[in-house]
Amino acid sequence: MKIPKTRVRNLRTWSPGNNPCELIGSLENNNKLSLIDLASNDYLGLSKHPKLIEAAQQAMLSEGLGAGASRFVTGSRPIHKKLEETLSQWLNFEKVFLFPSGFQANIAAINLLASRHTPVLADKLIHYSLLMGIKSIGAKVKRFAHNDIANLEQLIKQSIKEKPNEPPLVITESLFSMEGTCPNIKEIASLCQQSNSKLLVDEAHALGVMGYQGRGMSYGLSEAVTMISGTFGKAFGSGGAFLATNNKNGEKLLQTSGAFRYTTALAPPLAAAALEALKLIQANPNWGKQIQEKSKDWRTQLLKEGWNIPYGNGPIIPLILGSDEESLNKQIHLEANGLLTIAIRPPTVPEGTSRLRIVISKNLPENTLERFMCNLGQQR
Ligand SMILES: Cc1ncc(COP(=O)(O)O)c(C=O)c1O
Repeated sequence: MKIPKTRVRNLRTWSPGNNPCELIGSLENNNKLSLIDLASNDYLGLSKHPKLIEAAQQAMLSEGLGAGASRFVTGSRPIHKKLEETLSQWLNFEKVFLFPSGFQANIAAINLLASRHTPVLADKLIHYSLLMGIKSIGAKVKRFAHNDIANLEQLIKQSIKEKPNEPPLVITESLFSMEGTCPNIKEIASLCQQSNSKLLVDEAHALGVMGYQGRGMSYGLSEAVTMISGTFGKAFGSGGAFLATNNKNGEKLLQTSGAFRYTTALAPPLAAAALEALKLIQANPNWGKQIQEKSKDWRTQLLKEGWNIPYGNGPIIPLILGSDEESLNKQIHLEANGLLTIAIRPPTVPEGTSRLRIVISKNLPENTLERFMCNLGQQR
């Protein structure tokens, strides 16, 4: 098994000079690597936004750094309720519940919606946390080809034939974290509704960026989407997560979810920062569109120069290189030139599909695309 190397990197916004191909050796001379961030999921650049920092500081002073207990003991604060209610309204789901992380929320969601008897039908490329959720209930899972609705339909039909009394649970993401691809959630939702299947959509990467005003790809489909999970660790620039669902599932979650009940409540400063992020996203409904436009420019340029990228329209652009070595070499070369992208290799992605995962965020300095193309080098 390959152990990924981790390094602490000094990320700060950097204004390029007139020549986008120039090296930034001067910055390396004082022993500091100043990198343009083309890797993190801070899509809207909110993690360092003064309003989020101020909200977190104030919550820390008034409510404490940590919540100190679970929601059912003494961990609940008004900020939790406020965040849940504001999200519920914004996303048009009846109930929202906060969790300390998206990983945990996904495990809670699957434990709530399925048992070991439930046929689970999941996209081939779903996130590890969802796989762990399925594993934790001991259910049998069938995987459909990535974003392949015809294949999903086949599996639903087969499942209903085999187990007519056990409606299947369908699981997908709305923006796949390593592919940058989006399934047609509307079609999947209608397929699930027609077949009485439950549908769980992980909106971790889409929220704040994709769908109507950044409300995710399930927005407007709450009749047919049983539950969504979202995280504050990406576009929201904070940490923590949530599940959104209807009243019936919400009541069941309150009564039965150990993953909700037996964990320390989301730290108040993170909740306050997430609420501040939500207010900013609400006040700037075009942010998502702007990032999509910018991503389109990157995709057009990369395709024009013959690079292999999957079809997508969000901020995640994987440059599929195939070999682990080439991906790592490109990462190292780009990093030496002030551009941080990470080589993603198996087992995170399937064998033979190593890639550079490029992330387009709102505050990229001008000329970043030109600089990237200059330094990307030739294809093998
Ligand atoms: C698709 C997806 N779902 C869930 C998670 C987990 O979210 P969190 O970082 O809040 O635990 C991630 C984070 O890597 C993710 O990419």
